[in-house]
This record gives sequence, structure tokens and C-alpha cells, in this order.
Amino acid sequence: MGTPLFELRHLQVGTADEHAVPILRGIDLVVQPGEIHALMGPNGSGKSTLASAILGSPEYAVTGGAILFHGDDVTGWSTDVRAKAGMFLAFQYPQEIPGVSVLNFLRQALSARKGIDLSMLELRLAIMEWMARLDMDPAFADRYLNEGFSGGEKKRNEILQMAILEPDLAVLDETDSGLDIDALRTVAKGIHEVRAARPELGIVMITHYQRLLDEVRPDHVHVMIDGRIAASGGMELVAQLEREGYEGWR
Ligand SMILES: Nc1ncnc2c1ncn2[C@@H]1O[C@H](COP(=O)(O)OP(=O)(O)O)[C@@H](O)[C@H]1O
Ligand SMILES: [Mg+2]
Repeated sequence: MGTPLFELRHLQVGTADEHAVPILRGIDLVVQPGEIHALMGPNGSGKSTLASAILGSPEYAVTGGAILFHGDDVTGWSTDVRAKAGMFLAFQYPQEIPGVSVLNFLRQALSARKGIDLSMLELRLAIMEWMARLDMDPAFADRYLNEGFSGGEKKRNEILQMAILEPDLAVLDETDSGLDIDALRTVAKGIHEVRAARPELGIVMITHYQRLLDEVRPDHVHVMIDGRIAASGGMELVAQLEREGYEGWR
């Protein structure tokens, strides 16, 4: 194998405020091109902090270790530069912006990510094609981001962003979203379709939904406890968690 797509080397992260609360206590992770990694763990174990730190949220400070993307140390890079380089975090994009449609937002995001300025017509055609693949109602493109999307609609919006922006690494945090079966289907189908189009895409998926993991079949599963990765393995870890809960790893 060549240079990993993405690597965390003993990453330590704390809050960026005056309290500097330590949260992540040395995370090691290697994602090769095309791999799907699932990250599980109880509430408060640091999963969302990890997702935020990967994309350079100013809310958190890296206090040790490094983040590498395509072999480059991106630890000091701003969120914008990381996104432009091909790192994607769905929730980095505001979910609610008054007066901006899904289509318009994607156009701006695409311009920022790739420097491509598609006409509205060109973008609409590209989006229509993806919407058909993802079983989405074409009217969704003209919805406004501040219209109060349901959990499922937010997920559709995220998957559509991932499809259109063509990142090399996507970090999907599904933890807190309270997804119904249809929304889980959308996420699973979206991941399959986007990877069929772009097999090199690496995905770090944070979830506690067994159903989603059953459908997505991640290559690697990690269990995070108290800011550390307590176990790594395959789908057997998911089954073990289902049987025993997190108690055995605490
Ligand atoms: N901005 C913050 N300020 C203070 N504590 C935080 C902040 N963000 C996260 N934490 C704490 O860090 C721990 C991990 O939180 P989080 O990453 O949201 O966990 P998870 O997503 O696994 O539920 C929790 O104890 C949480 O209270
Ligand atoms: Mg979380």
C-alpha cells in the first residue's frame, strides 16, 4: 500500500477555550483509499469532537499528535483549505441559511471546493442525475435551507453534497440525528451509490445504528471510550456491542 489517504497519529485534542479540557487522548487511525471506517462509542466518548477536529473546527485545539491527508500534515490548516483539498464534513456546511436553496448552496460550495463555476442549468442537470440515483424528489433542489428540514431531509442534503463535491475523504457523523428507517436507507444507499461512482473515496462514519452498519458493511470498526480507541476490528465488534454493550471496554 502507498501513502494512506488519511492518518491520525496519536491525536490529542482539547477545547480551545481557557479551560482547555482534554477530550481526545491519543487517537491513531489509518484510512486507505476506498476504505470505510465506522466509529462507535457511548455518548460523551469524543466521537463528534474527533469529527470536528478532523475538519479543523476552531472550537477545539490539537494539543499533540498530527492529522495527515494524502501524506501532508494538515494539522495547522484551516477548515476552508482542508475542504478545498478534498476533506468533507457534512455538518461543516451550515444546515440553515435564510433564502438559500439547496441548489444555490451546492453551487457556492462547489465553487469553493473546486473553483468550478457551473451555470445553474449545468448544476441542475448534475443534481437531477444524482437525485434520481438517490431516489430523491427533484423538488428538493429548490427547497430553502432554512425551511426546517426533517432529519431525513438533512441527511439527503448531506449525501447530495458528498456526491456533488467529490471529496476524497468524507466524515459522516450520524450520532445525534434520530434517524428513521427511511433516512437510514438514504444514507446507506447514498454511500453505496457515491462509492460506486468513486471507489477511492474514504469514509469515516460515526454511528450507533446497527442497521446502518449492517447495510454499509464497513471495512474497519473502532470503539471509542473516554477519548481513546479501545478496540478495533471488523463487523464482529458490532455484534459483540449489540450483545454486551460498552461495559466490557470501560
Ligand atoms: N466545546 C466543549 N466544551 C467543553 N466540553 C466539551 C466540548 N465539546 C465536547 N466536550 C466534552 O467532551 C466529551 C466528548 O464529547 P463529544 O465529542 O460530543 O462526544 P460524543 O460525540 O462521543 O457523544 C464530552 O464529555 C463533552 O461534554
Ligand atoms: Mg456526538
